[in-house]
Amino acid sequence: DKGNHRHFMEKEIHEQPEVISHTLAHYLDFANGTTRKLDLPFDFNGIERLAISACGTAYLAGLVGKYWFERYARLPVDIDIASEFRYREMPLSARDAALFISQSGETADTLASLRYCRKAGMTIGAVVNVRESTIARESDVVLPTLAGPEIGVASTKAFTCQLSVLASLAVRAAAERGKISAEEEKALVRGLSETPRYTNQALQKVERQIEKLARELSHYKHVLYLGRDTNFPLAMEGALKLKEISYIHAEGYAAGELKHGPIALIDEKMPVVVIAPHDRIFEKTVSNMQEVAARGGRIILITDEKGAANATVETMDTIVMPDVPEIISPIVYALPIQLLAYYTAVFMGTDVDQPRNLAKSVTVE
Ligand code: M6R
Repeated sequence: DKGNHRHFMEKEIHEQPEVISHTLAHYLDFANGTTRKLDLPFDFNGIERLAISACGTAYLAGLVGKYWFERYARLPVDIDIASEFRYREMPLSARDAALFISQSGETADTLASLRYCRKAGMTIGAVVNVRESTIARESDVVLPTLAGPEIGVASTKAFTCQLSVLASLAVRAAAERGKISAEEEKALVRGLSETPRYTNQALQKVERQIEKLARELSHYKHVLYLGRDTNFPLAMEGALKLKEISYIHAEGYAAGELKHGPIALIDEKMPVVVIAPHDRIFEKTVSNMQEVAARGGRIILITDEKGAANATVETMDTIVMPDVPEIISPIVYALPIQLLAYYTAVFMGTDVDQPRNLAKSVTVE
C-alpha cells in the first residue's frame, strides 16, 4: 500500500526517520549512551581483518562501513563487490570474520561469496532486511536492518538502515577493542541517536528545493557526482540511483580523482553534484569545485551552512542541509541524493518503482 504517496520509492524515502530509529534502537542503548552487547560468534579483539562483500547499493553501504570500522575501531576491512570476491582467489584466514550485506538476503553472488567464506572456515555475519532469507539462514549471526518491506527496486530505506547497523557495529567494535573511551562511545551514540531527527529535518528543509532542481536536471544527459571520504561511496550511490530510475548517465567519483581523467568531460552540459559537508577536508573539495567551475561545469552543491558560506564558487544550486554530527553525515546526506534521483525520474516519466531491465532481487549470477 502506497498510502498517500505516488510511488513506493517516495513512501520509502519518507519512512526513513522511523525505520532508522527502530534499527538503531536494536543496537544502541540510548538511555545509557552505550552500544548493546551483541551475541557475536567472534570477538572484535580476536580478529585481524573483516571481509565485507555485497552487491549494488548494499556494497556501497559496506564501503562506508569500511571507513567507519577503520577510523573508529582501527579494524582493517577488505571490501569487495560480491561477484569479484568469489573469483579473485585472495588469501582468507579462518581466524577472521566475513560480513555480507543484503536487503533481500537472496542475491546470488552475495550468497555464493558467503558459501565461499564458509568453506574457508570463516565466521559469518549477515546484515539483512529479510529475516527468513537464505543468507540469513546460512550465517552464524544475523544483524538485522529493521527497514520493513522495501518494494521500490531502487534501494533507499534499506541503505540507510544498513548504514545505521554498520555505524553502530563500528562503535561497538571500537569500544571492545579499547580504541575509544567510555566518554567517546557516549558521544558517538548520542550522535547516532540524533539520526531520526536530522533525517526528518533534512526532508522538511530540502525536499521542495530538490524537486525544483530535478526539473532542471531532467534536461541533461550526463551527471557527475563527487565526494571525499564517506561521501565518496555516497557519490557512487547517488549516481547509481539516478541511472537506475531516470536512465540518465551518471558516474560517481572520489573528488580527488577528478583531475586524473573525468575532468576531461566537464563542460556546460555536465552538471556536477558535489556532496561536501563542512568537514576537515572541505577545502580540498572546494578546489575541485573551482576546477569544475573554471571549465564551465555546473555545480550542484550539497553542504551545510558553514560549507555554503565557505564554498567560494558559483553554483547552479546549493542545497543546505542541517548541521549534523560527523558519524551520521553519510546517513543524513543519503536523503537528498535519493530525492534528486526520485524527482528527476518523475519528471522523465519513467517507471520509478519498476525500472526497465531490473529486478528487486537478483537471484541469477
Ligand atoms: O537485496 P540486495 O541488497 O542483496 O541487492 C543488492 C543490489 O541488487 C541492490 O542494492 C541494487 O543495486 C539496487 N537496485 C540499487 O538501488
